[in-house]
Amino acid sequence: MPTEAFGILITGAGGMLGTDLVRALENDFEIIGLDKKPAPHLERPLEICDLLQERKLREVFMSRNPGLVIHCAALTDVDYCEDHAEEAVAQNVEATRNIVTICNDLGIPLVFFSTDYVFDGKKKGEYLESDPANPVSVYGRTKKDAEDHILANAKSAVIFRITWLYGVFGRSFPRAILRQIAETTKLTVVADQIGRPTYTKDIAQALKVLLSSRRDKVFAPGARIYHLTNTGQVTWADFARFILERVGRDDVTVEDMTSDKLNRPAPRPANSLLNLEKSERELGVILRPWQDAVAEFLVELEEVRKAAEAKARAKAEAEGASDQG
Ligand SMILES: NC(=O)c1ccc[n+]([C@@H]2O[C@H](COP(=O)([O-])OP(=O)(O)OC[C@H]3O[C@@H](n4cnc5c(N)ncnc54)[C@H](OP(=O)(O)O)[C@@H]3O)[C@@H](O)[C@H]2O)c1
Repeated sequence: MPTEAFGILITGAGGMLGTDLVRALENDFEIIGLDKKPAPHLERPLEICDLLQERKLREVFMSRNPGLVIHCAALTDVDYCEDHAEEAVAQNVEATRNIVTICNDLGIPLVFFSTDYVFDGKKKGEYLESDPANPVSVYGRTKKDAEDHILANAKSAVIFRITWLYGVFGRSFPRAILRQIAETTKLTVVADQIGRPTYTKDIAQALKVLLSSRRDKVFAPGARIYHLTNTGQVTWADFARFILERVGRDDVTVEDMTSDKLNRPAPRPANSLLNLEKSERELGVILRPWQDAVAEFLVELEEVRKAAEAKARAKAEAEGASDQG
């Protein structure tokens, strides 16, 4: 039974961050997970609704009556966004507008996740929340437009800019590296971008702590931005080397490459380092070093893989037994 009196509606609940938010908060709060499609890995029913269907969305809000909305849903494939700008604007900006309108009408505070991609990455040193945004990709522009809409219109909202996100469920850099080393012992990885890998579970845990000890900060009137990432810094190439070391694959070599050789549709910022002092000072939140989080993630990923294998084996055995019976 949830211990808290209000429910939390999580959009994109079946996605990478949404999944860990549901898991982190479900013991304390009634969770209303919402997504476009069911998420079997969550093993719970979701409200199936496209955020662009405003009338249906409003009906969900009215019937479930959440006390807080955590808006994770977005079109997050950066290269796809670059080639499908109209769709990216709809999913990332118009959908957010719908959420803001309904939250304002019903007096519900909002938590929104944004990204380092709102910056051009040219700054020497860490980006402050107050630094001017200058996105260099369609995805970054849509997230900035969503931020701007929230800052100008939301009655109560917190925007967390997060970076280089990875989690057990969903697509991410560490999972791509693990997939590649199942087939090759030679990797070529970008070495001219620097940032902070951030574990979805750590973001979810930070939200949980905030909602238990600093709730006033989340529910305050007005809208504000905080940077929230794991600490330390690394390039993608060294991030790959760290993963290889942790999984004991010293037979795999990583060759450095420059971003321009990658030929991807969307440019990425070279510097993704976000200054974390404001969230530490005002929210009392500081996340652990990225290396500790990645080490734990790799262990958890392996546990999830083994559990899925065991489940599949048990299912096959049960089916075999019933065939014989
Ligand atoms: N991933 C990163 O590296 C990263 C970095 C910085 C910030 N962020 C931000 O963090 C948040 C969470 O990212 P994530 O990587 O966890 O996202 P994700 O795994 O892509 O999950 C997003 C979920 O939202 C759903 N969704 C998208 N549009 C929707 C709509 N119109 N109506 C209902 N559901 C919709 C998606 O469904 P479909 O899959 O069917 O579209 C998906 O299940 C996003 O706001 C993202 O911009 C992510």
